[in-house]
Amino acid sequence: SEYTQSAHEGALRQALATEGSHHLLSVSQFNRDAIDELFQLADVMQPIARRRKVSRVLEGAVLANLFFEASTRTRVSFGAAFCRLGGSVCDTTGFTFSSMAKGESIYDTSRVISGYADAIVVRHPEQGSVAEFARATNVPVINGGDGPGEHPSQALLDLYTIQREFSRLGKLVDGAHIAMVGDLKYGRTVHSLIKLLALYRGLKFTLISPPSLAMPAEIVEAVSRNGHVVETAATPAQALAGADIIYATRIQKERFANDEVLEGFDNAFEINRALIESACKPEVVVMHPLPRDGRPGSHDLSVDLNNDPRLAIFRQTDNGIPVRMAIFATLLGVEKLVSRSMRDA
Ligand code: CP
Repeated sequence: SEYTQSAHEGALRQALATEGSHHLLSVSQFNRDAIDELFQLADVMQPIARRRKVSRVLEGAVLANLFFEASTRTRVSFGAAFCRLGGSVCDTTGFTFSSMAKGESIYDTSRVISGYADAIVVRHPEQGSVAEFARATNVPVINGGDGPGEHPSQALLDLYTIQREFSRLGKLVDGAHIAMVGDLKYGRTVHSLIKLLALYRGLKFTLISPPSLAMPAEIVEAVSRNGHVVETAATPAQALAGADIIYATRIQKERFANDEVLEGFDNAFEINRALIESACKPEVVVMHPLPRDGRPGSHDLSVDLNNDPRLAIFRQTDNGIPVRMAIFATLLGVEKLVSRSMRDA
């Protein structure tokens, strides 16, 4: 398929334009036109992501993948997406193997890496730190997760997945009912996703978390001001009733303060086959950003749904590649060359 830009041509490049360069730092950079353009481009990327077609549109370009916090999906899928477009990847993982362990600042690190790479993906434990990387460089910077702040590329691939699942089911995002379950305080993916979904019309959100891990009030207020219904449910089963999408998240104990105690969290939170059968619409779509915590007592998304077609988690992870390819192509200004550059694999 061809990438034909929308009536609002350039909305995506414009959304990513930040302080004299192009960066992806927050979902608040996006409007509906920019989302539509990104997803149209992600559709074009699908055959390359699946190795049916080949493109070398980023040949010679280098990605610096700087991950100062644990990651599997985000680090590998950003790297794979860059390679699928013909580029190469340099990695650094954890503080121990970076000169930040010797006290080097974000500013110096960012300036140095800018001389080596054409784009930088950063994951860092402090909220706002990735924007600090971006301010120090003119090379495009992508926020791969800044502490409990945001994870914009995850939210974009989540929304892309919701649109594809809804297209199969004959539904629209406008008017949808989304249940968000788990750690809504520290879960940056839910912060980014709810802000992105708030750009649509007439949504209903039902939120359920342990009391100390509720969605930040300022996010709930902003989404409500946009005309959406945001309700806090008394039980997980109540939150799920009538939902089109269940978005489950892991409890992020690694972000707890030393004296933080988790109360009101029990096995009622586990999203499993019995709960889905008893509480949900038959066509509900079950999502999770992953990783899911499989340790005893984690009450996370159950493996007993692994073969259930309503479980979309691996379609979600697959969608990370074309969406991240589309982000790179746009940030590096080659989005219009992709269709022309494609050949059979
Ligand atoms: N969803 C997500 O961010 O996964 P990783 O932590 O494995 O990158």
